Amino acid sequence: MIFKLTEEQEMLRKTVREFAETEIAPKAAEMDEKEEYDWSLWDKMAELGLSGIPFPEEYGGVGMDHMSYAIAVEELGRVCGSSSVLLSAHTSLCLWPIYNFGTEEQKQKYLVPLAQGEKVGAMGLTEPAAGSDAGAMKLTAKLDGDEYVLDGTKIFITNGERADVYVVIASTDPSKKHKGTSAFIVEKGTPGFTFGKKEHKMGIRASNTYELVFENCRIPKENLLGEEGMGFKIVMKTLDGGRIGIAAQALGIAQGAFDQALAYSKTREQFGKPICANQAIQWMLADMHCRIEAARLLIYKAAYLKDTDQPFSQEAAMAKLVASETAMWVTTKAVQIHGGYGYTREYPVERMMRDAKITEIYEGTSEIQRIVIAANLLK
Ligand code: CAA
Repeated sequence: MIFKLTEEQEMLRKTVREFAETEIAPKAAEMDEKEEYDWSLWDKMAELGLSGIPFPEEYGGVGMDHMSYAIAVEELGRVCGSSSVLLSAHTSLCLWPIYNFGTEEQKQKYLVPLAQGEKVGAMGLTEPAAGSDAGAMKLTAKLDGDEYVLDGTKIFITNGERADVYVVIASTDPSKKHKGTSAFIVEKGTPGFTFGKKEHKMGIRASNTYELVFENCRIPKENLLGEEGMGFKIVMKTLDGGRIGIAAQALGIAQGAFDQALAYSKTREQFGKPICANQAIQWMLADMHCRIEAARLLIYKAAYLKDTDQPFSQEAAMAKLVASETAMWVTTKAVQIHGGYGYTREYPVERMMRDAKITEIYEGTSEIQRIVIAANLLK
């Protein structure tokens, strides 16, 4: 394990932190309030190369590693959970499966503009009756001549209405359950592909979450990703990497709330002294810092294993479990340290507490992460 980041990774952190603090942080509260993302921020992220961090330059990326990607997601999360999941869903859930399972033609056609940030990516997996039980999907894809015909709906899709390219998982043979699922690349604007309801959420309110509706939606046969029947495997491998992204988002939210609480505790005076002079506050700060560092090390270990082509499924689940529960715990303490002010929208910690909650739910609930970890321990 390497405990020192490279000069390149440190430089990336500095660049993303500056960008996040100057460009995103001033807009985060308003975007949350309005439930609308300012997409000019995406264009700026693309200019910085954030839209294609862990992909080779020949595919429009910047050729860095997943550790760097995790650092960038963390730094966005430190000021805005919605910006953070935008990048994570784009990179982990759409670009990565195309990069890993796509044909050369698919990579040139879809990965290049996505990695360059000209296009935004999303993945359609979850359905009304297929959440944790991801293999229970009902959306079907039937081969008809040279086309697959998609029918069904996907819900809770991050980057939902704004994305241009979607990796959609469908059942091609319902009799085979998860072994009868397949992955497809679907472009926005394909006839029969429309958007349903927009979700109004507790947190990450600026993140664009929509229902996708497919009605007799015909896509070319060559948009099959990998082979028929590979859908569930593609999903599981994609989610292994995605969990590093969500863990990094949770870490960023926790770090952001901690930084706010630390600064506030030094300036807020009660009983004639700053509140940080009280041991009760000091112990909270010490515990928050320890938990954040522990989560960070788990995330970096999972990213390191992925970058060095070693198995990392269990480590990604551990990182996601610990980081998301840390984010919830740390943000709750940050609100506590802010007292009554922390409960108002005057300070960002209440938004951070709301944003933290989803990290314990999406890309596998904490309970699913424990199932994955235990299954790896017992196999
Ligand atoms: N890598 C490769 N293959 C894997 C795998 C992995 N990590 N995990 C499982 N598999 C394979 C198994 O080897 C098995 O293969 P065979 O059929 O060839 O034997 C197959 O997948 C089925 O495995 P299981 O029997 O373990 O599958 P299961 O149905 O019991 O489910 C689960 C396992 C871990 C619970 C899985 O369903 C899961 O991860 N559920 C959570 C789904 C999830 O995370 N959804 C998130 C939605 S996306 C999202 O949230 C995005 C967003 O908004 C940002």
